[in-house]
Amino acid sequence: MARVVTNGQSRRDFLAGVGALAGVSLLPLAGCARSDKVRIGFMLPYTGTYAQLGVAIENGFRLALAEQGGRLGGREVEYFKVDDESNPAKATDNANKIINRDKVDVIVGTVHSGVAMGMIKVARETGTLALIPNAGANAATGELCAPNVFRTSFSNWQPTHPLGKVMVDNGHRKAVFITWKYAAGEQALESFAEGYEAAGGSVIKELFVPFPNVEFQALLTEIAALKPDAVASFFAGGGAVKFVKDYAAAGLKDKIPLYGSGFLTEGVLDAQGAAAEGVMTTLHYADSLDNSRNKAFRAAYRENYGLEADVYAVQGYDTGLLLAQALDKAGGDISNRDAIIAAMEGAVIDSPRGRWTMSKAHNPIQDFYLRRVENGDNKVIAVAWKALEDPARGCSM
Ligand code: BEZ
Repeated sequence: MARVVTNGQSRRDFLAGVGALAGVSLLPLAGCARSDKVRIGFMLPYTGTYAQLGVAIENGFRLALAEQGGRLGGREVEYFKVDDESNPAKATDNANKIINRDKVDVIVGTVHSGVAMGMIKVARETGTLALIPNAGANAATGELCAPNVFRTSFSNWQPTHPLGKVMVDNGHRKAVFITWKYAAGEQALESFAEGYEAAGGSVIKELFVPFPNVEFQALLTEIAALKPDAVASFFAGGGAVKFVKDYAAAGLKDKIPLYGSGFLTEGVLDAQGAAAEGVMTTLHYADSLDNSRNKAFRAAYRENYGLEADVYAVQGYDTGLLLAQALDKAGGDISNRDAIIAAMEGAVIDSPRGRWTMSKAHNPIQDFYLRRVENGDNKVIAVAWKALEDPARGCSM
């Protein structure tokens, strides 16, 4: 298949374009008149345990736009960005910087569920179009759902929902769940327990570590003493690397099988090395998905960034695809809010993860895969759940 970066752009042209945008447009433009460019604001973590996730999302988004010749609906694009540090205490200030100071047309953020809650508050107050390229906070497409808020990733309910049945089918009826203590981990646990108990399993202990701490030793000792059939977990980014390595170093890997939502082994397998072998997870993506869209995307990502793509890059990419589709349908008129929203609601995204559609609450309806780490790769074992839709509890849109 042809390279994904099209319009006659070479890799050098593409990177030069990205560099030019970074050099010119990322400066704050307080006081400047609004241009007719589409103004995109990235509110993402660029430091801390989720830094790699933020970078992958931005890379994926820029790659999708490069496929459109760097334009949206025929219009030039101007970028702004803020490092949200995955810090919920700074979330409303950071969202205000992007929305009220930089006056973006679209805010693309963020990774951390707690930070997303602050961002959504400002987006709802101002009516700014907000595209969530990762954070799974259930409320974003549940009780806080709004016409101008869309998610291109998952709800926290989704990835662990299929996991319970998988574990019971594998003969594990008594499990410990371990996670960071914040919305993403707590909601992943809640959803896991719902599915696990319905399938006949029982969560015998819930273990928590404050976010973003990575001191797991005492809890690993407790797991060894509890002797569950298996452990299920939610960790991501730098914390997931440390957890999987510590789990193996504590001698648990070959005694108590480790499971998780797929973030546990996503984008971090090189750093986890042999410690990750055999870990089983459920997620809406896997590197090795055998479809031509995924192969072309991964090749273009590697060529342009010198990195392997992961689920975060895919989510950023799909955010760009969604926006491009909507702007095309609205004839490039970002102020035509009704047309943009209608286009996003009806979008079908031909994604590297497989085709997905938007639910009524603005969350992807998508397949979830069961993966096992084999030879340093998240190998797809099965489709764990076809076209899984978040229940959107509390959404009255
Ligand atoms: C979250 O906070 O929603 C989240 C962060 C990283 C991976 C998955 C979910």
